Amino acid sequence: MEKLNGKRVVVAGASGGIGSHLSKLLRQSGAEVFMTGRNAEKLADAAANAGVPEDLCFVADISVEAEVALLGSRVAQVMGTPDILVNAAGVGIIKQIENLTLEDFNRSLQTNLVGTFLLVKAFLPGMKEVKKGLIINIPGVLGKVPMAGAAAYSASKYGIVGMMQSIREELKRTEIRITNIFMGGVDSPFWDAIDLKVQKEKMIREEEAARSIWFLCQQPASGVVSEMVLQPFNHQAI
Ligand SMILES: NC(=O)c1ccc[n+]([C@@H]2O[C@H](COP(=O)([O-])OP(=O)(O)OC[C@H]3O[C@@H](n4cnc5c(N)ncnc54)[C@H](OP(=O)(O)O)[C@@H]3O)[C@@H](O)[C@H]2O)c1
Repeated sequence: MEKLNGKRVVVAGASGGIGSHLSKLLRQSGAEVFMTGRNAEKLADAAANAGVPEDLCFVADISVEAEVALLGSRVAQVMGTPDILVNAAGVGIIKQIENLTLEDFNRSLQTNLVGTFLLVKAFLPGMKEVKKGLIINIPGVLGKVPMAGAAAYSASKYGIVGMMQSIREELKRTEIRITNIFMGGVDSPFWDAIDLKVQKEKMIREEEAARSIWFLCQQPASGVVSEMVLQPFNHQAI
């Protein structure tokens, strides 16, 4: 296992269920963690809980190019080039196609897919300079298998997979690794705004979902975990 001690890790979505737990685990393992999220109050709470100082936190909307550029500058200023970028930011809009508006569709793509693109644009150049790094995204199982009502969400998540696989082809002469984690349902605030009957008690716990990413962050650099699938035991879609 690679030691996390001293590793510089940027966590996007650090104010969320998975990202906040991940930030804490990474910090406890001695990593230097930079946390970013959209809601300032939630981010401050998550940072306090993870033991990450205020100057390693930054509020940014990943769907807005100028805000991600400011995030990139701030990280460069206080931390330099990150060893690891984890994108745990995302929004879930689950509606049958007849109820899905263009605004819903655009918001899904703009946050989940364009947001991922902007994060990669902000942090990949630094990694390319040093020819090493690790980028972890969470397309989720809906980035691999269909579900009724997930047209917008799946479009954004399948898009992440295609985009990252394509970028991986460009990185063959570097030691920059890309990992996609196909996660099934996680009991997190993600589901709060979704009008769907779900059995949260059967979902993966946020802490356990975070622990799987923490594990991925420690994979030895001679290999790459290009994909990981983690699903609730009683609901295996893949
Ligand atoms: N929960 C699941 O069942 C599940 C399953 C598979 C994959 N995933 C994926 O895992 C990731 C994390 O999900 P979660 O369960 O931790 O959900 P969550 O608790 O709702 O957290 C989502 C995070 O994304 C951030 N975010 C949303 N829109 C943003 C934007 N425009 N700019 C910046 N940050 C934004 C939120 O920031 P604020 O709260 O500060 O606004 C929050 O930190 C997402 O990509 C999700 O699609 C989740």
